[in-house]
Amino acid sequence: MALTGNNGAGKTNILEAVSLLVPGRGLRGSAFNVVARLSGSGSWAVAATVDVPEGEFHLGTSFEGDPSSEDGGNAGRNAMVDGEVQRSSGVLTNYLKMLWLTPAMDRLFAGPASDRRRFFDRLVAAFDSHHGARFSAFEKLMRERNFLLQDHRSDAVWLSSIERQMAEQAVAIATARNAAAETLARHFAGHADQSPFPWGILQLVGEIEVLAAHNPAVQAEEEYARLLFDSRGADRAQQRTLKGPHRTDFSVTHGPKNVPADLCSTGEQKALLIGLILAQAKAVKELVGAAPILLLDEVAAHLDAARRRGLFESLTRLGVQAWMTGTDESLFGEAGPQAALYHVEQGEIVEVKQ
Ligand SMILES: Nc1ncnc2c1ncn2[C@@H]1O[C@H](COP(=O)(O)OP(=O)(O)OP(=O)(O)O)[C@@H](O)[C@H]1O
Ligand SMILES: [Mg+2]
Repeated sequence: MALTGNNGAGKTNILEAVSLLVPGRGLRGSAFNVVARLSGSGSWAVAATVDVPEGEFHLGTSFEGDPSSEDGGNAGRNAMVDGEVQRSSGVLTNYLKMLWLTPAMDRLFAGPASDRRRFFDRLVAAFDSHHGARFSAFEKLMRERNFLLQDHRSDAVWLSSIERQMAEQAVAIATARNAAAETLARHFAGHADQSPFPWGILQLVGEIEVLAAHNPAVQAEEEYARLLFDSRGADRAQQRTLKGPHRTDFSVTHGPKNVPADLCSTGEQKALLIGLILAQAKAVKELVGAAPILLLDEVAAHLDAARRRGLFESLTRLGVQAWMTGTDESLFGEAGPQAALYHVEQGEIVEVKQ
């Protein structure tokens, strides 16, 4: 489906709303209080009916902000499934998987490692619905450890217990990442020539991933726990945990050209990202039976006519639901009759009859 409209019409806002139907902070990565309409009540809600292999579900999520509180009441958000309030928004991942590309990701390969890691973890989460929750659990434990390290009265037994729990999560996270990277590599090896987008060579750069790849889980956990123990002094001095899955990076090489992604042209980098997303969507579909929903913000504008056609054809072949945006209707001229066209103006959506 394509959403067209002028700059500022509200196209990306719509994609952001859809992206909040999965756990996390949505496609813009905004804090929940920032998502709310300016000068509004501070709260927001999104609801959708989804038709997935397991059946039809009514999903909803809402945030009740409090503009008078210092942080805008920026706590968690609520999630509802078929009218029942859920314990956490994490359950949404059981119903929907989503991947997205935004113009902000154009600098992904040259930008900060944390952005790349988030992008890759989203790919992993499309395979493994526990991945996001594990990472949150790890981060929570890590914050606790950092806090304990600063408190000189803290209990060494407690600290060791936290580090052991961190190690358990860390190895599970790294194992899921390694598995996803392998699946993608296998996928590229088998399907690369059928795609109009280049294949990539993905490499995880992180010591936990190496540990997890070469050791049984229990041993990898022990080694990481020891690493944490040994780096207490350095971590205390730096007021953060220097080693762990939160520091992992991944490098991508443009396969056909054998050039690191950050040295590729803007268009080539975009094509690589699209190639990655399409490969992931296809691999997930083969694995779990349903392809993730794709949110492709302004994706068509960057592509030449042949690649645009290639993208539409790939999406059709994949049978995914893709939400694309663009300022100009002509960008979607070749999307064919199966694509629904909508025009967005001042946040209102109207279907364009073709
Ligand atoms: N929290 C907010 N409250 C009120 N208005 C907002 C908020 N966030 C964004 N807007 C406004 O919503 C409008 C639509 O933004 P959006 O990013 O969806 O536009 P767009 O259609 O994607 O445009 P473009 O083609 O330039 O990407 C903008 O004018 C923006 O300033
Ligand atoms: Mg936009």
